[in-house]
Amino acid sequence: MIKKEIIDQIREQSDIVQVIAEYLPLKKAGKYYRTLCPFHGEKSPSFYVSPERQIYHCFGCGVGGSVYTFLMQYEKLSFPEAIKKLASKLNITIETDNSEYRYQPLLDACEFATNFFQDTLQHSMPAKTYLQNRQISQETIKRFRLGFAPNGNLLINAAKKNGISVETLVKTGLAIKKENGYYDWFYNRITFPVFSASGKVLGFGARILADNVEPKYLNSPETPIFRKGDNLYGLFQAKNYLYQHQPILVEGNFDMLSLVDKGINNVIAPLGTAFTSKQALMLRRFSNQVVIAFDGDSSGRAATLRVIEIFLKNNLNPQVIVLPDNFDPDKYIKNYGKDGFENLITNRLDFVDYLLEVKPSETVSDKQARLKEIIDYIKLIDDNIDQELYINKTSDIFKISKDTLSNQIRKEGRDVQSQEIESKVSSIPSLKLLEKQILSLITSIPEFAKTAKQEIPLKCFSADEAQEIIQIIYDNIDLKNYTIAKLIDEIEKPALKQFVVNLSFQEKTVPTKNEFVNKLRALEASWYLKAISDAKIKGDVALTEKLSVEHYNLKKKLSQKRSK
Ligand code: CTP
Ligand code: MN
Repeated sequence: MIKKEIIDQIREQSDIVQVIAEYLPLKKAGKYYRTLCPFHGEKSPSFYVSPERQIYHCFGCGVGGSVYTFLMQYEKLSFPEAIKKLASKLNITIETDNSEYRYQPLLDACEFATNFFQDTLQHSMPAKTYLQNRQISQETIKRFRLGFAPNGNLLINAAKKNGISVETLVKTGLAIKKENGYYDWFYNRITFPVFSASGKVLGFGARILADNVEPKYLNSPETPIFRKGDNLYGLFQAKNYLYQHQPILVEGNFDMLSLVDKGINNVIAPLGTAFTSKQALMLRRFSNQVVIAFDGDSSGRAATLRVIEIFLKNNLNPQVIVLPDNFDPDKYIKNYGKDGFENLITNRLDFVDYLLEVKPSETVSDKQARLKEIIDYIKLIDDNIDQELYINKTSDIFKISKDTLSNQIRKEGRDVQSQEIESKVSSIPSLKLLEKQILSLITSIPEFAKTAKQEIPLKCFSADEAQEIIQIIYDNIDLKNYTIAKLIDEIEKPALKQFVVNLSFQEKTVPTKNEFVNKLRALEASWYLKAISDAKIKGDVALTEKLSVEHYNLKKKLSQKRSK
């Protein structure tokens, strides 16, 4: 456990704008900073950072929180890890105890296996020869930590000797339990560790040495630390190149290694899954354009079309390299060298030209079909200028007026998407409007929180969630270092955290203190009404009487204040 004071101190000493700006391009917008949200696909920025309150919020998907929340969400860190990360930036030392991270044993097991496979490769002639034949250099083998998984459950045995239990191996997908015991999951395969963006091994892909043996690749199963659709093969190594060079997305592990080996470093591969929005968003952190370089065969082309759609939906501009049939990037660069491949990059196509190039577009009905596909793609583009550029281009190619095209495209609009987003924004359904107004003022303006603590008891708030939030506020509000960012860190439930951030970012007219107190009284009065009717139902005459008198006095107070 890390002490509360330390957590507060680190939060107070760091600036959320500076921290987020290390990951995302922030632009000043009034009293906020703004950018495209990294947590959902969007085309116009709705991710806001408040330097004044040291919190952030996305109006699109509803995420938000303090500087710690951001690091947890963006870097997938645990709370203690986020604290430590900031602490080390600020040169504040806190006792480090790795065991705090509950998945640390799984990461340790993956790291152990990576080393074990790397060592094994050095003693396995067939595996070494295989990599040599595929022209992967020693340097690349080292950099990507390629290895070899041997036969005979050797990993399980080696792990045991090093204090890693077979149960832990099973949890990481490195071993499997069968009827008559435990077995290594990978054997007789070249291993490709899959790294997190910060370089930790999370899982593996593995290729059989022989050709024509199925399955050609075997991957780690999904584990608590490894989900294929959440990672990109090669991202860790490509990361620093992606700011200058647009990412090149290839299909195969060997395509990636081969290009890197020849000096093209800005390459990543999707790990054999259908490309996901999550993966697209990971790339958008670096660039708003991505070059797709899939195999030249028909399945590569079909996959390209699907990826174009995912990119457009996530506000990335897809560009496509067209490889000859029977070629993948690996084979192409081996045949034509780095220059040859760079030529292809130079001649990459946008999605309109790509569609026209790879699909027949001669007859009128071909053209109708193409036009329909292109329109469907253009509809996905949210940026008005980008959209218009593609409309203009399509209008020139098909000789159809821009107006006709625009009308067709805008007719269906973006209602669907905005509805989707709306429903994700968190709320407390049972909250009355007045309660919500008060809660919103209490959470964003500490002065009002102090007033509320003096003026109104917790019980007057009807929704349990509201009571929970306000209890935390009442517990903390008198502390010298109370801030909204601190409040958010104190709230444990993610949904409530998000709700508070949401409230505090809502535009509101700030009432005077008197007006605010009147709102509190009104809420209190409505509590009395309900309490009185409950007492009547119970037949508690004395209580009914007592509450009625209190209610009457409260109303008198209210009307006196109003008439002042
Ligand atoms: N893949 C997989 N499972 C399979 C086949 C493929 O996970 N059974 C994934 C692997 O990540 C592979 C990628 O899909 O790298 C592309 O497949 P393929 O083109 O067959 O693999 P290459 O890496 O190009 O392999 P090679 O060049 O050795 O044929
Ligand atoms: Mn391939």
